Amino acid sequence: MALQVVTQGLQGALKVADEEWRQIDAIIERNRDRPGGLIPVLEEVQEVSGYLPEPVQRRVAQGLGLPLSRVYGVVTFYSLFSMIPRGRHQIRVCLGTACHVRGGTRLIEYLRRFLKIEEGGCTSDREFGLEAVRCLGACALAPVVVVDDDVYREVNPAKLDRTMRKYRGTARREKE
Ligand code: FES
Repeated sequence: MALQVVTQGLQGALKVADEEWRQIDAIIERNRDRPGGLIPVLEEVQEVSGYLPEPVQRRVAQGLGLPLSRVYGVVTFYSLFSMIPRGRHQIRVCLGTACHVRGGTRLIEYLRRFLKIEEGGCTSDREFGLEAVRCLGACALAPVVVVDDDVYREVNPAKLDRTMRKYRGTARREKE
């Protein structure tokens, strides 16, 4: 399903940590002479850094001896790659017409407050990423929120609050 990102703010942008650069370099090194290795390298690198910002693309391009434009072209062509930070739980709030009319805006406002991030951002622990999208193809169920692959229908702020607390509780337990 094609999703159009309505807003891609820079808030919540994350730095790549030193340890992550080391892992990225190791991935490049392992695949340096592998023909057609760009996509698998980008997949592995994205698992490490969480997304593929320009400095990471530049490192991959240099490491594999490719032009940056080639790496950029692949990153922007395939929807599995992201140039904005994504959380382990990626939340998509529909702001298409049907969802907007039935309260989608209130949902994204709730999430901004709950997560303390803007659309296109990611929490500092990378647990949650937030996107506003335009029509998820489920207008009869509006307003719609999708968390990872789970679709939540006819959502209101109270329902969303319960859902988010469940995800946050799960995330905390996973870390303990
Ligand atoms: S407008 Fe939200 S699913 Fe279509």
